[in-house]
Amino acid sequence: MRHEPSETRERRFLLPLRGKSIAPPPVWLMRQAGRYLPEYRKVRTEAGSFLDLCYTPELAAEVTLQPIRRYGFDAAILFSDILVVPDALGQNVRFAEGEGPRLDPIRSLEGLSRLGLSKAHEKFALVAKTVELLRSGLPAETALIGFCGAPWTVATYVVEGRGSPDQGAARSWAYRDPEGFAQLIGLLTDASIEYLSGQVRAGADALQIFDSWAGSLADDQFETWVIQPTARIVSAIKARHPQVPIIGFPRGAAAQLERFVQMTGVDGVSCDTSCPLGIMQRIARGGTAVQGNLDPLLLVSGGEALDSRVDEIRAVMAGLPFIFNLGHGIVPETPPENVARLVRCVRKDP
Ligand code: CP3
Repeated sequence: MRHEPSETRERRFLLPLRGKSIAPPPVWLMRQAGRYLPEYRKVRTEAGSFLDLCYTPELAAEVTLQPIRRYGFDAAILFSDILVVPDALGQNVRFAEGEGPRLDPIRSLEGLSRLGLSKAHEKFALVAKTVELLRSGLPAETALIGFCGAPWTVATYVVEGRGSPDQGAARSWAYRDPEGFAQLIGLLTDASIEYLSGQVRAGADALQIFDSWAGSLADDQFETWVIQPTARIVSAIKARHPQVPIIGFPRGAAAQLERFVQMTGVDGVSCDTSCPLGIMQRIARGGTAVQGNLDPLLLVSGGEALDSRVDEIRAVMAGLPFIFNLGHGIVPETPPENVARLVRCVRKDP
C-alpha cells in the first residue's frame, strides 16, 4: 500500500536538507540514469537525438525511473540536461554522437540579442510535463530532484560553443566586458528561475544547481559569477516555494565552499571528489546538508576498495546531515553490479 507522506512523514531524502541526520544516509548518484545502463541505451537509440529524449516526457520519465527500479535510490533526478536552458532560449544546441555538446557560440551582445526568455516556455513546459509524469509514477517514498545548470557553467557552453578545458572564452569575455557578460548571466539567471519554478509547480521536491566549472574562476570572479547568481536563484525560488530545499554544486571549489554556503543560502552542498572530508564535516556541523563525494572511478573498479571508502565516508559523516553521492557523475564504463554493491554497502548497518 502507498502512503502519501504527511508533514510528519517526510521523504527520507529530504531530512538531511532540513538539518537532520539519519542512518543509513539517503543515497542517490549523479547521472544515475545514463549510458552505463543497457535499458537507457535502448531508449536513447529509439528516441533519436539526445534532446528529443529530453523533450519527450514519456521517454524522459521512463529513463528517470530505470535506476529507481533497479536500485531503489532515495531520490530520482529528473532526466534532462543543463543545456536545455540555452536551447529553449533560442541558441541552437546539438549533441554530436561521442563528441559532447555543440552550440553556435555567442561572444557579444549582438549574439546575445538572438536569445530570449519569451521563446523558452514551450520547451520548459515539456520538461515540467516529465516532472508531472514522474511524481505520479514514482514510489511515494522516493523524492524527486529537479535541476538546472548554474548560470556560470551554462554560460561557459553558450560562449565557447562546446566543453572546453579552461572555460577560456567565457572567462575572457567576463574580463573584457563585465557589463555585457553580466547581461548574459542575468538572462540565464532569470531563465533558471522560471525553469526551476516550473519544475517545483509540477511536483519536484528539491532542486540542485550544477556548477560544474565553478573551480576555474579567480576568487573575486567566483563571487561575481558563481555566488551572486546562485544567491539570486535561491532567494527567488525561496520567495515562491519556501518549502523546497536547494542543493548547490560548485564543483572544484572546495576552498570556497564555506563562503558559498553562507552567501548563497543553499540548504545543502554537493562536494566533489577532491573535497577533503574534514571540510565536509565542518560544513555539516554548521547545520547545512552535505552530499558526496565518492570517486566515480572507484565505482568502476569496485571490490573491497569501494566498500572501505564507503565505510570511511559514512563514518566521518555519521551523526551529521549527510546524503551519500559521488563527487561527480557516474561514467559510462561503470558496471551496473558495482552500483548495486555500493547501495548495499551504504545501507548496511553501521
Ligand atoms: O543525473 C542524471 O541522471 C540526470 C540527467 C543529467 C544529464 N546531464 C543527462 C545527460 C544531468 C543532471 C546532467 C547535467 C549536466 N549536463 C552537467 C552538470 C553535471 C556534470 O556532469 O558536470 C553538464 C556539464 C551537462 C552538459 C552535458 N550533457 C555534457 C558535457 C554532455 C556530454 C558528455 C557526456 O557525458 O556525454 C551531456 C550529455 C548527457 N547529459 C548525457 C546524459 C545521460 C549523455 C548523452 C547521451 O546519452 O548520449
